[in-house]
Amino acid sequence: MEYLTAKSAGFCFGVKRAVDTVYEQLNKGGKIYTYGPIIHNETVVEDLEQKGVSVISFEDLKTLTEGTVIIRSHGVPKEVYEVLNEKGIDYVDATCPFVKRIHQIVEKDRNEGKRIIIAGNPNHPEVEGIKSYAGEDFIIVESPEEAEVLNLDSDKEYTLVSQTTFNMSKFKDIVDIFEKKGYYYNVVNTICNATNERQTEAKEIATKVDAMIVIGGSHSSNSRKLFEICSKECKLTYFIQTSEDLKAVELPDSVELVGITAGASTPNNIIEEVQKYVRADF
Ligand code: F3S
Repeated sequence: MEYLTAKSAGFCFGVKRAVDTVYEQLNKGGKIYTYGPIIHNETVVEDLEQKGVSVISFEDLKTLTEGTVIIRSHGVPKEVYEVLNEKGIDYVDATCPFVKRIHQIVEKDRNEGKRIIIAGNPNHPEVEGIKSYAGEDFIIVESPEEAEVLNLDSDKEYTLVSQTTFNMSKFKDIVDIFEKKGYYYNVVNTICNATNERQTEAKEIATKVDAMIVIGGSHSSNSRKLFEICSKECKLTYFIQTSEDLKAVELPDSVELVGITAGASTPNNIIEEVQKYVRADF
């Protein structure tokens, strides 16, 4: 079977940096903890667990007395730094610089009295981190539909930012809605280019191929978004975690070209295994 793999498939800069940080720290020795799983990829997390890395939560942090904590690329709420500093625990901050930039914008604008609006998923850890810099009265909008029903005070000033993995076209729709409503606000498009490029390329490939494979962890929101985008262009779009899942896929005989893309937390070796499977076993 012929296949076409997206150049932008797999680890983005921030995720690669965070994963590399954990392996570097492992080489230095000592007990290593990651605050939450380092990435949304069970294979990588299991490999790290076997090497002695433990995943910890906010509750665990409170009772921690030794070791080094690594903060993942999504970033963490302010309170996490407070606990780490209070307890004098060593940590390495692998928050992606693009996420850090959002924290800074939000904190600065909040201090200037603007009310913060975050376009994103309220349950995503990145948004949990961002909102900790946004004061008490921040607003989270997850969709243009939510923006449409929002009734804001037109005398107030707002700053709109987005989760780095937010869908670009949904963000533009939200901006248009606020524009129409006449709100006085400052828009900072903080969608990461890596996501944008990955989404654009995935869409482009999905229109050309007969079947499309999206590789990603089941909890990875950016991978699920890729699946959503590709499914619109290609009816035969499959969401898988590893090449093992392809065993259950039966492609129709008419399929000649398969597209492959992967979310930001998919390591290269998993992409290569999928390519191998598509080439030899489909
Ligand atoms: Fe950073 Fe963008 Fe990746 S924000 S973690 S480089 S998706």
